[in-house]
Formats: sequence, C-alpha cells, structure tokens
Amino acid sequence: MKTIIGTLLLATVFAILMTLLVIYTGAFNVATTWEDPAPVSWVLETTRENSIETRAASIVVPPTKGDKQIDSGFRSYREMCAMCHTPPGGTDSPITKGMNPSPPDLAKSAEHMSAAELFWATKNGIRMTGMPAWGVTHKDGELWDIIAFVKKLPGMSKEAYLALDARLEKGHDHAGGGHGHGDDSHGDSEPQKNDDHAHEHDDDGHAH
Ligand code: HEC
Repeated sequence: MKTIIGTLLLATVFAILMTLLVIYTGAFNVATTWEDPAPVSWVLETTRENSIETRAASIVVPPTKGDKQIDSGFRSYREMCAMCHTPPGGTDSPITKGMNPSPPDLAKSAEHMSAAELFWATKNGIRMTGMPAWGVTHKDGELWDIIAFVKKLPGMSKEAYLALDARLEKGHDHAGGGHGHGDDSHGDSEPQKNDDHAHEHDDDGHAH
C-alpha cells in the first residue's frame, strides 16, 4: 500500500514538474500558424461542443418575429460577423485566413447547432479562439435577431445574400426606410420575456 501511494505521489510531482518545465521554458508554441496534432484538436473540439451544449440546455428560445427580425439580424451579421464568418459565396477575409481555429461557416453551424446553442456561443464567446462575447456589448434581443438570420443561412445562395444586402443597403437609416410600410406584420411578434428592442442598437455604442 505504502509503495503504491509513494509511486502515485512521485508520478504527480513528476507531472507537475514537466508542466512547469513546458510553461517556463517556452516549449509550448502559441503561434496561430501551428497546426494542432489530431488528439489536441479532438480535445479542444469535444470540450467546446459539450461545454456549449451543457450551458445552452436551460436557454428558452423566444418566438421568432418575422421578416423585420431577419433584416435586423442581417444588418448586425454584416457589421459584426461577416469579416470572420464568410457570408454565402464570399471569399475569406485576411482575418479569417489568419485565424486558428478557423471561424466556421455559420451556415454549417446552423445545421448542426440548435438556436439556443448558437445564441449561447454568440452571447458568451469561445475562450482562446478569437470568437468574441457579443453579450458584453449587445442586448439579448439583438442577439436573437442575429440568430434568426443565422438560422436562414443554410441553403442561402450568394445571389440571395447579395439581394438582401442590396435591399437593406438603402435602409441604413433604419429608423426610416424599413419601418413605414406593411404594419400588418406586427401581428406575428410575440411579447418577449426580455423586453429588449431590436432597433435600439444604434445608440448602444457599437457604432465604432
Ligand atoms: C474575430 C473573428 C470573429 C468574429 C467577428 C465573430 N466570430 Fe464567431 N467564431 C470565431 C471563431 C474563430 C470561432 C471558432 C471557435 C472554435 O472553433 O472553437 C467562432 C465560432 C462561432 C460559433 C460556434 C460555431 C460552431 O460551429 O461551433 C458561433 C455560433 C459564432 N461564432 C457566431 C458568431 C456571430 C453570430 C458573430 C457576429 C455577431 C460572430 N461569431 C463573430 C470568430 C469570430
């Protein structure tokens, strides 16, 4: 018994020393250009997926709010996400090319992740990957608008994306353009628990 405890103790001390050696000698390569070996990638991916899944489990997804919500989400996506998460048919930006892990195509993410999981990752960010936590600067309502748009990405063609871009380009003054017509679409907006407003974000400090 004593030898078992002794051996375990020795192994623990050895492991701690080896870890300290790696930390202090600079043996670990923090370069973005360094490809992770397969087992490391597996650890990172599995940890991320399970972490997001566990934390998103208790999130209640609010009802979607129709086309105006998609438009609002599109504007935010174009401004805040597209430089990393390449839009349909687009080419990767220098930021996207230089990142490791690479920002995934959100059309693919939207296929295998629930709205709650997409929301959790968007709100809280993903540590040590470059994915920012948008919940620090944006309200839940604005983030749900983005998720509503992201959920439309699977199957969206380059042409459809560009058409949306062209249509909403005029509506930069979105207090004016998009609001005047078709008030009947109000009917499909359900009251939300969080009474955030999709259109508040212009005074919310992210116009840098
Ligand atoms: C600076 C670059 C950058 C910006 C800007 C950015 N992201 Fe990300 N995002 C990343 C990276 C990198 C990852 C991959 C993390 C990983 O692989 O663990 C990621 C991952 C994600 C994921 C998880 C996807 C998956 O398949 O696991 C979601 C959802 C996401 N981002 C949504 C968004 C949204 C929505 C926006 C805009 C509001 C945004 N991101 C803006 C870099 C960015």
